[in-house]
Amino acid sequence: MTSSARPRILITGADGQLGWELQRTFAPLGEIVALDRNGLDLTSADAIRERCSEIAPALILNAAAYTAVDKAESEQEVAMSINGIAPGILAEEANRFDVPLIHYSTDYVFDGKATQPYRESDATAPQSVYGRTKLAGEVAVAATAKRHLILRTSWLYGNRRQNFFLTMLRLAKERDELRVVADQIGSPTWVHSVSRHSSRCVSIEGNRLELTIPPGIYHLTAAGSTSWHGFASAILASVPVEERRATRVVPLTTAEYPTPARRPEFSVLSVEKIEHALTVTIDDWQQQLAQCFAERNQARL
Ligand SMILES: NC(=O)c1ccc[n+]([C@@H]2O[C@H](COP(=O)([O-])OP(=O)(O)OC[C@H]3O[C@@H](n4cnc5c(N)ncnc54)[C@H](OP(=O)(O)O)[C@@H]3O)[C@@H](O)[C@H]2O)c1
Repeated sequence: MTSSARPRILITGADGQLGWELQRTFAPLGEIVALDRNGLDLTSADAIRERCSEIAPALILNAAAYTAVDKAESEQEVAMSINGIAPGILAEEANRFDVPLIHYSTDYVFDGKATQPYRESDATAPQSVYGRTKLAGEVAVAATAKRHLILRTSWLYGNRRQNFFLTMLRLAKERDELRVVADQIGSPTWVHSVSRHSSRCVSIEGNRLELTIPPGIYHLTAAGSTSWHGFASAILASVPVEERRATRVVPLTTAEYPTPARRPEFSVLSVEKIEHALTVTIDDWQQQLAQCFAERNQARL
């Protein structure tokens, strides 16, 4: 096969945390066509169809999303257009080319009232506009795309863009103490881990890309759980004392740190289904945090 005949992998949200990682992880599987918002604006159904016609993808990875959880409360229409409607159109396009679609979703589709990790079969009940629009996207993909994976992840962070991890590193240099909510429990997940496990869900067969696991919803987060306070404490403990000003993390309640969007109190997702399907053991959040710091040190960030 010549390099020009390599199957094309369309990645949306090219400049996002996950979209950026997926470009590197999926490169061995095909020719990456990664589009940022300028290359493909997901609020335009016509643009989605046109780009897909030009690219003729062998696989679509939808890593783009409206992720501003609080802002979404006052921008419901645009959030629904990107998170709820666009995934359904990408699903139609995946069918048109008879190719798989991998779509990403969130722990915020749950109400957070559980006391045990949520399973894929558990009832959804989003508490925010963001969660509702992401659930609408899941429903559209599941109803439309013949070959699809919906990978729900949570509390994503890495060494690029904006995320809680980078915010804590910055504030640790600027402030004497960090003040962080301690009554929301979830699984901080390193974006590279999501990307790496996503690539295990696809194999190359001739010039086609096929899913290696049955279609459906899977939870793909780090294993284990903690609070935002626990996560911040672990981040702080990993920074040498001479490189930071902050010495402690003060626990707050959600009531003390009000935000426009309601967040689930407990949004830990069970990763057993994907571990079983891929025959892997997913690293826990502490291991993933250590790997993220190692990447940071290696790249001297
Ligand atoms: N971040 C989290 O904590 C988290 C948690 C659970 C699930 N997820 C899900 O995981 C996936 C990846 O999240 P992420 O953290 O990588 O998000 P991110 O860093 O915010 O990236 C999202 C990307 O989507 C792009 N985008 C926004 N509106 C668009 C539009 N109209 N057309 C095309 N692209 C548009 C953004 O473009 P710009 O660069 O121009 O803004 C950005 O590059 C999403 O499905 C998200 O819902 C994320």
